[in-house]
Amino acid sequence: MIVTLDGPTGSGKSTVAQIIAQRLHWYHLNTGLLYRALAYILTVRYGYDYITTMPSREQVEAALVSIKYQYDQHHGPSVTVEGKDITSYLKTDAIDRAASRIAADGMVRNFLLSYQRKLAQDYALVVDGRDTGSVVFPYAEYKFFLTASPKIRAQRWRSEQLRRGSYFSEEEAEALVNERDIRDTQRALAPLVIPSGAIIIDNSLMNAEETAAALLKYIAV
Ligand code: DC
Repeated sequence: MIVTLDGPTGSGKSTVAQIIAQRLHWYHLNTGLLYRALAYILTVRYGYDYITTMPSREQVEAALVSIKYQYDQHHGPSVTVEGKDITSYLKTDAIDRAASRIAADGMVRNFLLSYQRKLAQDYALVVDGRDTGSVVFPYAEYKFFLTASPKIRAQRWRSEQLRRGSYFSEEEAEALVNERDIRDTQRALAPLVIPSGAIIIDNSLMNAEETAAALLKYIAV
C-alpha cells in the first residue's frame, strides 16, 4: 500500500507524512531528504554549483551510492553518508536552494526514481515530495496534494529557520519561498503538479495534527 503526499514548500507534507506513518506503523519516505542529501554531497562537498559546473554521471552515481536513507518510527527519517548522520545539515537555506537546483537535473531524478521505487518493494509506504503521486508512484492507492497560502507557507518556513538559529525577515522568507515555488513548478522534468486523482487539502487554517487527521479519514487500512 502506498500513500503519497505532494505539495510546495511549507505545506507541512513531511510533518504530516511522519504523523501518518507513526499512526499506521508504516515506513515514511521523505523524498526531499534524498534530494537534499545529494545536494549536500555534490555542492557542499564537491563544489558543483549546478549553474556553471555540473558533476559527471559517475560522480552523481557515487554520491547516491554513498547515501543511506533510514527510517525509525520514533526518530523519523535520517540520512547517513559513510556512517555519519548528516540529517541536521540538510534543512539550511543553502541546501534548500541547492536541492531545488539539483532536482531539475534529469540524471539525478532518474537515479532517485529507481531508488524510491526499490524502497516501495519492501514496505507499506507514506511518501512525501513534489512528484510522488504524479511520477514516482502514479498508481498509489491514496494521493494527496497539500497546500496553504503563500504567506502562511513563508511563515512556517521562517519559523523552521528560526528554530535552527537562522533569522530571515518576513519579506525575505516570502521572496525565498516564492523563488523555490517558481523553480519547483516551472522546471521541465517532473515539476510540482497536482497529481491526477489526488485529494487536495488546503491546510492554511490547520496544524499538522489536524491535517493528518483529515487525511487519515480517507485512508482505509
Ligand atoms: O520537500 P523538500 O522541501 O525537502 O524538498 C527539497 C527540494 O527537493 C525541493 O525544492 C525540490 C526537490 N524535490 C523534488 O524535486 N522532488 C521530490 N519528490 C522531492 C523534493
